[in-house]
Amino acid sequence: MSIKKISKEQPDNFEFTSKNLLEAQKIITNYPEGKQQSAVMALLYIAQRQNNNWIPLVAMKYIAKFLQMPYIKVYEVATFYSMYNLSPVGKYFVQVCTTTPCMIRGAYELVEVCKAKISKKEGEISNNGKCSWLEVECLGACVNAPMIQINDDYFEDLDKKKCEKIIDQIVNEKKPKPGSYRGRTNSEPENNRKTLTNIKNA
Ligand code: FES
Repeated sequence: MSIKKISKEQPDNFEFTSKNLLEAQKIITNYPEGKQQSAVMALLYIAQRQNNNWIPLVAMKYIAKFLQMPYIKVYEVATFYSMYNLSPVGKYFVQVCTTTPCMIRGAYELVEVCKAKISKKEGEISNNGKCSWLEVECLGACVNAPMIQINDDYFEDLDKKKCEKIIDQIVNEKKPKPGSYRGRTNSEPENNRKTLTNIKNA
């Protein structure tokens, strides 16, 4: 289960950069007149990207004003969805899926790797300031379970050793290869299997 903590340390102000302001204004035009508040999720995501991958409370207030909606409604959205971080995360933000398909295929071994190599507690930034990790709900790659997400990339078909290698690479500022770690392209069957019956127990 993912734990959402709102940072005790908050910046005093927030506003979109001129580039992000243009992007936000463009997104709003996708919605019919009077329905601009529907852009709240996209704008929160822009704010998160701009602010080192987390959303401070002032950004929620800024977006509420921007979309002319009550602050509490923006707060509700930001605190509901696990893709929004409400406190600082590491430069490399590792999300470990522990929902059932990943869990039964060894997700908690990956959690142990994160505890050993990043930080004992989830949500805590590692001593070298580079990484943090979080247990999250299904990330939609169940067929390649177990998996982790690091920033924008998915790492799939993992086991303890493979996960250790990946985390070692990010700790050393190297970029691990995203995708399946059992050599699959996306979610194709292994062994070039074309039907359910042509390789027994594949
Ligand atoms: S259960 Fe882990 S990606 Fe869906």
